Amino acid sequence: MLRVEGRHALSGTVRVSGSKNAALKLLAAATLTGERCRFTNVPEIEDVRVMAETLRDLGVVVDHPVPNVYEIASGDVDWLFVPLEAAAKMRASFILLGPLLARFGRVIISNPGGDRIGRRPVNLHVDAMRALGAEIEYRNGYYFARSPGRLRAGRVTFPAVSVMGTENAMLAATLADGRTTIHPAAQEPEVDDLIDFLCAMGAEVSRSAPDTIQVVGRRRLRGAEHRVASDRIEAGTFVVAAAVTGGQLTLEEAPCAQLGAFLDVVHDVGVDFTCQDDRIVVRGVDPALKPYRSRDIATAPYPGLATDLQPPTCVLLTQAEGVSRVHETIFEDRLEFIGELVRMGADVSLADDQHAAIRGRTGLHGAELEIGDLRAGASLILAALAAEGTSLIHGEHHVQRGYENIEGKFHDLGARMTRLPEGAPTEGSPASA
Ligand code: EPU
Repeated sequence: MLRVEGRHALSGTVRVSGSKNAALKLLAAATLTGERCRFTNVPEIEDVRVMAETLRDLGVVVDHPVPNVYEIASGDVDWLFVPLEAAAKMRASFILLGPLLARFGRVIISNPGGDRIGRRPVNLHVDAMRALGAEIEYRNGYYFARSPGRLRAGRVTFPAVSVMGTENAMLAATLADGRTTIHPAAQEPEVDDLIDFLCAMGAEVSRSAPDTIQVVGRRRLRGAEHRVASDRIEAGTFVVAAAVTGGQLTLEEAPCAQLGAFLDVVHDVGVDFTCQDDRIVVRGVDPALKPYRSRDIATAPYPGLATDLQPPTCVLLTQAEGVSRVHETIFEDRLEFIGELVRMGADVSLADDQHAAIRGRTGLHGAELEIGDLRAGASLILAALAAEGTSLIHGEHHVQRGYENIEGKFHDLGARMTRLPEGAPTEGSPASA
């Protein structure tokens, strides 16, 4: 449980960590070769640990010699089975489908949605593998995938853009026979980080148009070294932290160029910031003295506003004067955390699962809060930092899945945040639960 005392302006410099959503796919991509691969700037987060464990269970050698460095050697992988336990912990385990199938010709992998088809399905991944010649059957919650001989290159056409769908198709195609075209391909920067690594492994992968990826399959890939790109979502989270606490923050290794749509919103609401190279300087003002301005937002695939930055942006919009309409277009459960914001005094009405209207500015107050998922969790921490009084936040393990040392980083910036064991006495708090 986290105890957060709000309304202290943050100040100082914070270094943005390596990207979760790049690192997970890079570690999986290392199974495309038997040679050793080395990754630096890997974030020390729970999801990376789960991926490392999942790989070890397959028989892959995963070394973690020093913090932020992983070395992977997938010589003898004989246990081609990704169990329900891995999938239940982390949906991204499904990224192992493409590389294991392409290299070993078979894999049995759990459906990360269990039997709850329709909610975060993986049909696009499965259809992409079939387009490359794989035979896939679904039984008892598992996909049984095999390829008699090498996968066959072909056209992978998605009915909608999918980040991991694109990545799975691309990973599989690197070892397929012939040229594969993937369209529409996701344009997220994490996909490009993966392309860079695949090329270092000797793969032939490139974008022939922003939304089209071409892959010429090779018989064999080699080991390679790669530095994981910075996490644009973590960077966006700290930008909001500075804005809502009226703080002054310098973000280092912040990928400015990848944050265009988000920074447009931040600019329009009136937050003062500058971006230069990979440094963002944010000069927040206390929203109680000078509220920000409202702004409608809608999430979209890259280069649009990232759905992962929608929850932090909503926290910022509670500190803006006027009505901001929010349209979450990617996922149907991403506005659920709004209920917790309302308990803190935010004035938000939900028209349906994907539309909200935020009326501001509201002075938030501390409350006892429950984190439901990773991005919601980071946003509730932001709300607690902006709120009058103390908040108790349960379920912070969700945040540790994706943010490296978040508590330590906020602490170093002057946040009053402490971790308490669940059930610890919480005298005097929260202020107005
Ligand atoms: N979809 C399908 N069928 C599929 C795959 C996706 O219908 O087979 C739908 C999804 O339900 C969603 C839409 O397509 O409505 C787009 O989903 P996408 O496949 O792009 O999402 P993803 O690849 O599963 C990644 C990130 C998410 C991020 C989304 C969107 C990873 C590990 N996850 O998910 O990150 O929100 O792209 O940008 O890369 C997070 O980090 O908190 C997180 C959830």
